[in-house]
Amino acid sequence: REDTAGMTTAPAHLLIGHRGAAGVAPENTVAAFEVARSSGAQFFELDVQLSADGVPFAFHDSTPARTTNAAEVFPGRENDPVTSFTWAELQRLDAGSSFSGAFRGERIPHLDDAVRVAGDAIGVFMEIKSPATSPGIEDVVAERLRTGPPWQRLLRDGRIEVLGFDAASNQHFAALAPEVPLQQLVYRVPDAETLARISTYAGQVGSNHRWLNAAAVDRVRAAGLGMSVYTVNAERNFNRMAALGVDRITTDFPVEFSWKHPAT
Ligand code: G3P
Ligand code: CA
Repeated sequence: REDTAGMTTAPAHLLIGHRGAAGVAPENTVAAFEVARSSGAQFFELDVQLSADGVPFAFHDSTPARTTNAAEVFPGRENDPVTSFTWAELQRLDAGSSFSGAFRGERIPHLDDAVRVAGDAIGVFMEIKSPATSPGIEDVVAERLRTGPPWQRLLRDGRIEVLGFDAASNQHFAALAPEVPLQQLVYRVPDAETLARISTYAGQVGSNHRWLNAAAVDRVRAAGLGMSVYTVNAERNFNRMAALGVDRITTDFPVEFSWKHPAT
């Protein structure tokens, strides 16, 4: 970007690696989080769910069929809810091979291990994925943030944010942990009245980039909220989001976009 004097300036947005770096490594695995950590992005995003015995783990889909070898390990259960598996069962799954043979043996990460990968190098966007199928997940995440050293360091350094589509779940989390930055995910930016309601418990709105325009961004700003967008993978879309002046851009390709839009 150039400012009015023709000087090159750093981008105003933060860069977020989606599910780690889902374009180049198996989503929601330590391998993908490690790619994000060395990409130059400021955060990586992950999805969190609870196993049948209450263990928080990083995983996006509602079933293990697409991203793991569950059909081989647990034939007939691959389309069952991933939250119906115990943590011991989930650990038997290979979460890398379906992306590429080069990642064979990659495991579903425990949430603590995912957070540990961040170290001091990158922040974590933690999406509470399925509050309905992971009852009590808000309490588990809030409790971990309160007691786990790797988590507390992230919180102290402003390198953690919790996000989710479910407004009731978000409000519950905000009541449990008001000190944690919170983002309300939406498919498209809602009306001013809804945004005013969101601003009572969240600091950011995270929208799909597809329908975003200047009027929607203005509406978000007028409600005193920050503007985040997901999941931006084509350069023309990325440039459009940067031109709209959004605060955060989530992408499956954090290495590529950090190189093309360095935050110097
Ligand atoms: O960052 C928000 C984005 O991850 C929401 O969509 O389906 O990839 O979890 P999804
Ligand atoms: Ca997500």
